[in-house]
Amino acid sequence: MAPFPDEVDVFTGPHWRMKHLVGLYCDKLSKTNFSNNNDFRSFLQSLCATFKEFKMHEQIENEYIIGLLQQRCCTVYNVHSDNKLSEMLSLFEKGLHSIKSEYEQLNYAQQLKERLEAFTQDFLPHMKEEEEVFQPMLMEYFTYEELKDIKKQVIAQHCNQ
Ligand code: FEO
Repeated sequence: MAPFPDEVDVFTGPHWRMKHLVGLYCDKLSKTNFSNNNDFRSFLQSLCATFKEFKMHEQIENEYIIGLLQQRCCTVYNVHSDNKLSEMLSLFEKGLHSIKSEYEQLNYAQQLKERLEAFTQDFLPHMKEEEEVFQPMLMEYFTYEELKDIKKQVIAQHCNQ
């Protein structure tokens, strides 16, 4: 159970969805037949959709959580500044548009596996940090009522996507 009351916990709910998506692509990564062009393209298309959702999640966090926190606490750094999601999306686009032969597909698949694993190894701790470091800061710098409003906006924005 989350250590903070659900009505003011801004991270756990959206992260449940993000972690579910991580589980899905890890599963597909292990099952995709990269020699098969249809499988290859289908996996890349699902990765594009997933990472666009991750990007939207980050944008919502930036606008509705981190930006507000930075206004109250000037030492809060920009947690989403290294643009890994755009780099991953470029990698998927490259796979969809530039890979022509089975040989290229298999080489690309190796690179894709390494990059996805590296991304996942950063993304899961990133979410944990938001839940365990940023949520307590929010509790410190915002009133309970303010946080209830922030939570409502965060959930509404995720549901709009
Ligand atoms: Fe909630 Fe910054 O991922």
